[in-house]
Amino acid sequence: MVDVELLARRLVEIVGPAHVIRDPEQLATFERDWTGRFVGVASLVVRPGSTAEVAQVVRTCAELGAPIVPQGGNTGLVGGSVPRSGEVVLHLGRLHELSDVDERSRQLSAGAGVTIAEVQERARQVGLDYPVDLASRDSATVGGTIATNAGGMYVGRYGPTRAQVVGLEAVLADGSVISRMSGLIKDNSGYDLISLFVGSEGTLAVVTRARLRLVPSLPARAVALLGLPSLERAVELVAVLHRTLPTLLAAEVFFHEGLELVCRHRGVRPPFDRPARCYLLLECGGQEDPAPGLAEAVADVVPEEWALLGSTPIERSRLWTYRESHTEAINAEGVPHKLDVTLPLAALPAFEQEVRDRLRRRVPGARPILFGHVGDGNLHVNVLGCDPADERVEEAVLTLVAEHGGSISAEHGIGVAKARWLHLTRSAADIAAMRAIKRALDPQGILNPGVLFPPEHP
Ligand code: MLT
Ligand code: ZN
Repeated sequence: MVDVELLARRLVEIVGPAHVIRDPEQLATFERDWTGRFVGVASLVVRPGSTAEVAQVVRTCAELGAPIVPQGGNTGLVGGSVPRSGEVVLHLGRLHELSDVDERSRQLSAGAGVTIAEVQERARQVGLDYPVDLASRDSATVGGTIATNAGGMYVGRYGPTRAQVVGLEAVLADGSVISRMSGLIKDNSGYDLISLFVGSEGTLAVVTRARLRLVPSLPARAVALLGLPSLERAVELVAVLHRTLPTLLAAEVFFHEGLELVCRHRGVRPPFDRPARCYLLLECGGQEDPAPGLAEAVADVVPEEWALLGSTPIERSRLWTYRESHTEAINAEGVPHKLDVTLPLAALPAFEQEVRDRLRRRVPGARPILFGHVGDGNLHVNVLGCDPADERVEEAVLTLVAEHGGSISAEHGIGVAKARWLHLTRSAADIAAMRAIKRALDPQGILNPGVLFPPEHP
């Protein structure tokens, strides 16, 4: 049993009274994820202002046996950044230092609490860009996106967060600090702890700072929205366009039912006179205007009435709104089950059809709304109309993913939402190896308990 009074006193000595929160009303915002599906109770929130303070906080929690849930922008979607039952929420928002861009290496250093939009803005000042981009860019933080190995729209071109992290500073469960911030691209001295910590969902270490790789910015952009008869056609087209359209940056997909929600929620008109079954959004980028190349490629593959092209910023943003507003439009309808899955591209169209059938048969009332990053084989299966606690939804969707040789998490992580189903796409040997790493680095199990691994039965 943790002595919370003693813990609070000790933490106040480290970070000062203003940064230890115990007032229930103030705690509430840290205790609930933004979908409203995951809500728990924190013993307190602590907001350290430096890596040294994070280290002291973690050491103190370890001494007093207090489990910790690290939290950044709290934009996670699998319940991994909210407390479950009385943990300390270690909020990293005050780690807000952002370096200038080192133009020789095309890198910068950012504290865990810096947002993705802030990193992008700093990079763009010198003609570079940070290629992890997602709709929650104004709230999602460097620390949180590293913890989850966030993906976003441009993974096909630049890789996920892991591919951008060239240095990391992290606090281990005993309060010791690992700092590999030199940004060396080539460094084969032993285990790659940086890659291990990226995507470890706060279970192995608390990320406090990162060295990030930047890419040349591609200021000239063009977007096309196509109406298609099926996901199968979208997958075929993307395969062709990857060969014929070297400027292709993003290939996103959504369906009729999601578009209807978005139009209602945002008060916008549908893109075409008639509804299509499936919509494919393409974005191209370059130093020179990619619009003529995109228009030509699109004209070769779809009839004119099913293609819209956006080249000005206003037109592009109008077309992106149909895709990017899915998350908020779904949330406005109720609390969704959010299942982020990835499939081999060959299996994606069959999965899309079967998942709707399976949900209809196994979970009466389930209302599936699908969208995602088709270029990566990544679908977001959102399900409305069911109790948030009804795990038949997870069971139906995730077992189907496993039957098709996919993964139960593409870019959101496992969190608490999918821990029970990890065995579906990771073997017993895999899970045992991951547990061995967890035990070695966090023998007391104080870092984000309940996340990633199902509870061990004696
Ligand atoms: C997206 O692709 O828009 C994000 O992963 C968010 C979501 O799945 O809701
Ligand atoms: Zn996504």
